[in-house]
Amino acid sequence: MKFSILAFTAACVAGVQLASARASTFTPVRPPAIPLAVKSPYFNTWLSAGNGGYLAGEWQQFWAGQTTAWTGFIRVDGTPYIWMGNPGGALTVSQKAFEYTSTKSMFTMNVGGLVEMNITFMSPLTPNDQKRQSLLFSYLEVVVQSLDGPSHEVQLYTDISAEWVAGDRSSIAQWEYGVTGDQIAYHKVYRQTQLLFSETNDQADWGHWYWATKNVNNLTFQSGQNKLVRNAFKRNGKLDDTNDVNYRAINNDHPVFGFSVDLGSVTESINTLYTLGLMQEDAIQFDGETGIVPLTSLWTSYFLNEIDALSFFYNDYATAGSTASTLDAKISSDSLSIGGQDYLTITSLSARQAFGAGQLVGNLTKQYFFLKEISSDGNIQTVDAIFPFHPILNYLQPSLLKLVLDPLFENQESGRYPNTFSMHDLGSHYPNATGYAAGNDEQQPLEECGNMLIMTLAYAQRISDTAYLNQHYAILKRWTQYLITEALIPANQISTDDFAGSLVNQTNLALKGIIGIGAMAVIANMTGNTADGVKYTNIANDYINEWQVLGIATDALPAHTTLGYGLNDTHGLLYNLYGDTELNLGLLPQSVYDMQSSFYPTVANKYGVPLDNRHSYTKSDWSLFAAAVASTSTQHLLISKFAKWINETTTHEAMTDLYDARSKGYV
Ligand SMILES: *[C@@H]1O[C@H](CO)[C@@H](O)[C@H](O)[C@H]1NC(C)=O
Ligand SMILES: *[C@@H]1O[C@H](CO)[C@@H](O)[C@H](O)[C@H]1NC(C)=O
Ligand SMILES: *[C@@H]1O[C@H](CO)[C@@H](O)[C@H](O)[C@H]1NC(C)=O
Ligand SMILES: *[C@@H]1O[C@H](CO)[C@@H](O)[C@H](O)[C@H]1NC(C)=O
Ligand SMILES: *[C@@H]1O[C@H](CO)[C@@H](O)[C@H](O)[C@H]1NC(C)=O
Ligand SMILES: *[C@@H]1O[C@H](CO)[C@@H](O)[C@H](O)[C@H]1NC(C)=O
Ligand SMILES: *[C@@H]1O[C@H](CO)[C@@H](O)[C@H](O)[C@H]1NC(C)=O
Ligand SMILES: *[C@@H]1O[C@H](CO)[C@@H](O)[C@H](O)[C@H]1NC(C)=O
Repeated sequence: MKFSILAFTAACVAGVQLASARASTFTPVRPPAIPLAVKSPYFNTWLSAGNGGYLAGEWQQFWAGQTTAWTGFIRVDGTPYIWMGNPGGALTVSQKAFEYTSTKSMFTMNVGGLVEMNITFMSPLTPNDQKRQSLLFSYLEVVVQSLDGPSHEVQLYTDISAEWVAGDRSSIAQWEYGVTGDQIAYHKVYRQTQLLFSETNDQADWGHWYWATKNVNNLTFQSGQNKLVRNAFKRNGKLDDTNDVNYRAINNDHPVFGFSVDLGSVTESINTLYTLGLMQEDAIQFDGETGIVPLTSLWTSYFLNEIDALSFFYNDYATAGSTASTLDAKISSDSLSIGGQDYLTITSLSARQAFGAGQLVGNLTKQYFFLKEISSDGNIQTVDAIFPFHPILNYLQPSLLKLVLDPLFENQESGRYPNTFSMHDLGSHYPNATGYAAGNDEQQPLEECGNMLIMTLAYAQRISDTAYLNQHYAILKRWTQYLITEALIPANQISTDDFAGSLVNQTNLALKGIIGIGAMAVIANMTGNTADGVKYTNIANDYINEWQVLGIATDALPAHTTLGYGLNDTHGLLYNLYGDTELNLGLLPQSVYDMQSSFYPTVANKYGVPLDNRHSYTKSDWSLFAAAVASTSTQHLLISKFAKWINETTTHEAMTDLYDARSKGYV
């Protein structure tokens, strides 16, 4: 009897959870992790789709996996509901819809059939506006309105925990509460002992976090133990206006920083805006022209202090919103016209994530854009991680590519790297771009020489910046000389796909090097170095002819390029073909393009074409490089298979580059 009552209850509870848990639509798809606030390597928080993609009932995660709690309650006619995070102790709202664009993640919630909430997380992306792009801040807007007609008494609560401020949960957090001159209320939270340029679990050990909202009449605040603060809201619908000054470890009686706003009687829609951001004055250490110097965050050149920057950002929401909508519309219409809805599913998820790997530093005379190699080893300014990133800069703002390449040129041209080939990265761990004076980086000489030549020309062509080519001619020529010696018959070495191991005579790697030489032929001609232009043009053409003999399994059915020379039963994604089209070199005959377009469908798995014949995994970036230069039908195949994986994967981290083309997992 007892058993059957329990079973019955369990069935009811399961039924209720099922109803609410499965009620949401996901547009265009439910990604493996939903970007919530993704602005830079240190400000990068996601909603893992572990619970199915529901904002209520799951803690948010920093990209590296640790929780960065961000909590929301709403009280309707005295009953509290959870709308964000997983604090427990109340009903959850019922999520009806989720939708993402390139800059926004939007949720629609039904709260007990009484009110509706529209919740928008917006991470602005302003590649054409360095002032705004330099601010590592994001928006959260909550709109509430009556759902059933009559008005309801509504109070809204949000908090962040101290987990945001440092990766070592036993480190001491400190905080303060303030109100700016223009009435922005803020909690400022930070690691008490600031460790400049230091990280723990990939979170920064320095800088100040600002969690802010408008200081409206009915706003109350409180800092203190998580349960204490949240219970105050659940019971009273307001907070105590008190600041707990017992500064303590992040994990000691978990301090949280709450806001409550009493919206009063709600019928028509009423909105509340919050902003969250990270302010670091010094951001990067860089071994440039004058030796190792600290570089400041670029926002420090535009604003007198942190408070000014905070106010600007908070008050900029209308402009930021329309700029974001314009960008969303551009990416949407371009993606749809090129590759249809599946392509838009990928591009709109990629945009924030791509820019969220970097940040702008410097001053009004000299800016740099530094990138972190996220979720592998944390290298800074990795050339072969910039390479898959650079097409979005070509598309949105090519001038930013110069800011990414500049630090690499500056370090090496100052004689701080002893090798004759291009360096792999500018430092073993972000934010220390302190180089490799001993030349002991993870060497991928052929790969990186080719990448640097291709990307330098890609930038110069799009901006018509011949001066840049003149400025760097000597080192570009040195790298070209390396390619002339090494590219056609590649020694045993790793490519960018270092996890696949080293191999001699890699067909795709050789192609990258030859295209690098072809790029230098154009560079030489553009800069009036005619003799070099003739020489490099001839070499590139000769090498491409030889390469077609060495790297193509002509007798195979169907014919295709091999993984390595002479290995006729091997194959791989020939993603380096992209550079030939990107730079308009015309080195390769159309027959090579056509051959690969015909071949890929014959080795495709459920979720993609494998990177090569040794494994079932593939890379999403290289698949899309291959797609970019494939026939329409093969392009569609490559795009749709990756979009399908995004929709069906059982992984729960930010969109990946490396995944299994046969299953819903990684490798
Ligand atoms: C909330 O979002 C839904 C779509 O999910 C939309 O129909 C509704 O108009 C939105 N409400 C407000 C107030 O923006
Ligand atoms: C960067 O270098 C500083 C020393 O200048 C060091 O204290 C810090 O731990 C380094 N950061 C990382 C992430 O390795
Ligand atoms: C503040 O809250 C009171 C009590 O709920 C309500 O009557 C009033 O309309 C609210 N004021 C504002 C500005 O929302
Ligand atoms: C701007 O940055 C450059 C490069 O770091 C530096 O050489 C220069 O002194 C800076 N200028 C000012 C005004 O700080
Ligand atoms: C690499 O390819 C070249 C050209 O076919 C060949 O001469 C050489 O033996 C190959 N190297 C190895 C180690 O197979
Ligand atoms: C460079 O210029 C030379 C001489 O005019 C020409 O023969 C060659 O084809 C050019 N190369 C490229 C890649 O445009
Ligand atoms: C590989 O194919 C090429 C042409 O397609 C042929 O010349 C060569 O003999 C083949 N190599 C082997 C080992 O079968
Ligand atoms: C995504 O997968 C779900 C099943 O999990 C399916 O119902 C839906 O149609 C798929 N969406 C797209 C766009 O493929």
